[in-house]
Amino acid sequence: MSTTVVDHPLVRHHLTDLRNVATASAAFRHLTRNLTSLLAFEATKELTEVRKTVQTPLCEASGFALDQRVALVPILRAGLGMVDPVLDLIPTAEVRHLGFYRNEETAQPVEYYNKLPLENPPDVALVLDPMLATGGSAIAACRTLQKWGVANLILLSILAAPEGIAAIEGEIPGLKLFVCAVDENLNEHKYIVPGLGDAGDRIFKT
Ligand code: PRP
Ligand code: URA
Repeated sequence: MSTTVVDHPLVRHHLTDLRNVATASAAFRHLTRNLTSLLAFEATKELTEVRKTVQTPLCEASGFALDQRVALVPILRAGLGMVDPVLDLIPTAEVRHLGFYRNEETAQPVEYYNKLPLENPPDVALVLDPMLATGGSAIAACRTLQKWGVANLILLSILAAPEGIAAIEGEIPGLKLFVCAVDENLNEHKYIVPGLGDAGDRIFKT
């Protein structure tokens, strides 16, 4: 598994505002979109291309087109806040939702939505979830995608805890993880510290 921390002044700037408890939901969503675009820019560097020729107003120009089938897989709910910026960059992508919530006592993921087909997997899945805490939800999502037959798994998370990275590394060895920052640890409630609180609640004002 590889972990890439996207090292960029814009990431640090927007992430600092995202963490701020004084940031209201509308701004939180906007910052989430900005950070997701920056993550996606890095995470899609290895998508493959084919040559393509177009006609400019002046002459023929040779260029490129993406040639892989890409699926975006937001983990409900908070991953929904990351879909639109990636779709803006890859408008041909399909979106496959997976629903997991963490049991509040055990912090174990509970699956509640999965309509993935059984065949014809995409070439690449970009799993979208802003928080990698214990890693339980992301591991469960990646296992589901592996069962579908997806060989190339990329996870975009805004924040990760070292515990979550260690857990997913052991379970999904081929994963490529892109994050804005790796925080200090998890607290006794399995929240990322310093973190940003509950991402789903802050995105959806609940
Ligand atoms: C949050 C977050 C991740 C998960 C991370 O979701 O969006 O999906 O927790 O924690 P883990 O790494 O320990 O599994 P939550 O269960 O709060 O659901 P929500 O997105 O509906 O708020
Ligand atoms: N889920 C969140 O939304 N925040 C955390 O810190 C951990 C899990």
